[in-house]
Amino acid sequence: MNAPAKTDNAELIVPEGVYAETVLSVTHYTDRLFRFRMTRPAGFRFRSGEFAMIGLMVGEKPVYRAYSIASPAWDEELEFFSIKVPDGPLTQHLQRIQPGDRVLMRKKPTGTLVLDALTPGKRLYMFSTGTGIAPFASLIRDPETYEKFEEVILTHTCREVAELKYGFDLVEEIRNHEFLNEIVGDKLKHYATVTREDFPFKGRITDLMESGKLYSDLGVPPLDPAVDRGMICGSSAMLKDTKALLEKAGLNEGANNKPAEFVIERAFVG
Ligand code: A2P
Repeated sequence: MNAPAKTDNAELIVPEGVYAETVLSVTHYTDRLFRFRMTRPAGFRFRSGEFAMIGLMVGEKPVYRAYSIASPAWDEELEFFSIKVPDGPLTQHLQRIQPGDRVLMRKKPTGTLVLDALTPGKRLYMFSTGTGIAPFASLIRDPETYEKFEEVILTHTCREVAELKYGFDLVEEIRNHEFLNEIVGDKLKHYATVTREDFPFKGRITDLMESGKLYSDLGVPPLDPAVDRGMICGSSAMLKDTKALLEKAGLNEGANNKPAEFVIERAFVG
């Protein structure tokens, strides 16, 4: 993998400790969001919910950003869900990738949004905004999530309806997947809301938690530290506000080396 590899336009020198993988498909959702899938190196192991450093050569130098791996640990391919920032150091280039192009990935994945960082519970909430849904795209497709929890509630809030499509497609994919659909059954609930357009479900997730509408819409009791667990992924402000509500309900933040009732991670790019 460290040997120089030929690409269409230039010779790609792959740095030490880095994989160079081939893009398999690219799906653009809006002018701000896209998804890509690429080959998975044979020796690459990760836990569903972790992130990796993804990069491209920009001129002579590699530019990397942290990306949650959106595919589950069992998948033969790797999937990522990305924002497009017009002058973003990486995403201005990454948004133009095509099948056959090579993408760099550092060899060591990491992260706190993993099942191991939570103590046992009955109901797992995954709170996400924007591209923060990516680690949960991995976890909701992992059978282990449903072995550990009786109910899995994925919340996804975006500014506009079109930005929810990736999440709706994911749930549809699970429903159409023979083996996953059987495991997931009716355990997964997808609660999607928008804040800046008309939609049947409107509002920030934090407001919907505070008003209790989230729980009444889902037909579940309010947060209870005895049975409920949480994972949060979004902007820094969203993490802070959601974390405060979980703490108010009596849940404590955990980590890999100290499992507890909830874990958080910033949605990196964007
Ligand atoms: P809003 O439209 O009210 O700002 P962004 O793209 O800015 O990260 O926002 C993605 C989604 O997260 C938007 O729907 C936005 O709502 C919501 N959001 C932004 N900040 C917070 C916050 N502090 N708590 C909860 N939701 C938030």
